[in-house]
Amino acid sequence: MFRAFRCITALAVLAKAGGMASWTLDDIPWHRFDRSQVDPELVPIVKAASLVEHNGAAYAHHLCRIFADDPEFQETARRWGEEEVQHGRALARWAAMADPGFDFAAAFARFQGGFKVDFDSNRSRRGSRSGEMIARCIVEIGTSSYYSAMREAAQEPVLQEICRHIAADELRHYRLFYKNLKRYLGRERLGRLARFKVALGRVAESEDDELAYAYYAANEYERPYERRRYRGAYAGHAYRLYRPHHVERGVAMLLKAIGLTPNGWLGRTASRLAWHAMRYRARRLEKMAGRGVERMSEA
Ligand SMILES: [Fe+2]
Ligand SMILES: [Fe+2]
Repeated sequence: MFRAFRCITALAVLAKAGGMASWTLDDIPWHRFDRSQVDPELVPIVKAASLVEHNGAAYAHHLCRIFADDPEFQETARRWGEEEVQHGRALARWAAMADPGFDFAAAFARFQGGFKVDFDSNRSRRGSRSGEMIARCIVEIGTSSYYSAMREAAQEPVLQEICRHIAADELRHYRLFYKNLKRYLGRERLGRLARFKVALGRVAESEDDELAYAYYAANEYERPYERRRYRGAYAGHAYRLYRPHHVERGVAMLLKAIGLTPNGWLGRTASRLAWHAMRYRARRLEKMAGRGVERMSEA
């Protein structure tokens, strides 16, 4: 009896700490799918997102290699990876409902075949363990804002529900990596400037091949891959979803991760700058891809 109580308490603590998936694919009301509400502009980026999310298992493996002597964090990383894979499965299922021609398995094989990162390496590309945690925080800031923005833009009820679940998970993931960042900052010396550099570096990386290649592998694989073209194609679809309040919240989370206070003039100035920088990049990338540029509107 006492043991059972202890076990339940441990599970409750785990769930509260963000270590446990709070939903499964069965919680999604698939029967409410409404084809008439599907926005064809969202379908290609949902397909691309399904591939990137499903690759979470590979990154979890990489984290376990970097934190080889931290079994507690390894356990966290494995559960995190499972949740990312579940995001990929949910998005892939929706994409196949919206476009029955979408073959997730084939697209994922193409993505893995073309987008190569050394996930077996035991060294963080960020130079330190705290740096790795900051980079993970940045990714979760990006995904939590992205799925919040997508939920607000989507009209189709099943996609709205999937995005609501995923955005909540991504926010929990941010808190999880932030908690571990603080733990590692207690052991490593990493000043605010160094933290800022890692954060900016990871933000800039969001325009690297990963998303562009996922867009290509999911949507336009009959043609040869061109980084410029698909970077622009992806950005053209994705950036237009954002509104100032998404950027504001993301900037506040970023400032917190690098050890700065997000309230007051700093937060306001930084989010204004970030919003304008994002609009500028969206126009540039769309131009590079040869698409129209008048897609991103101010809210
Ligand atoms: Fe995710
Ligand atoms: Fe996440």
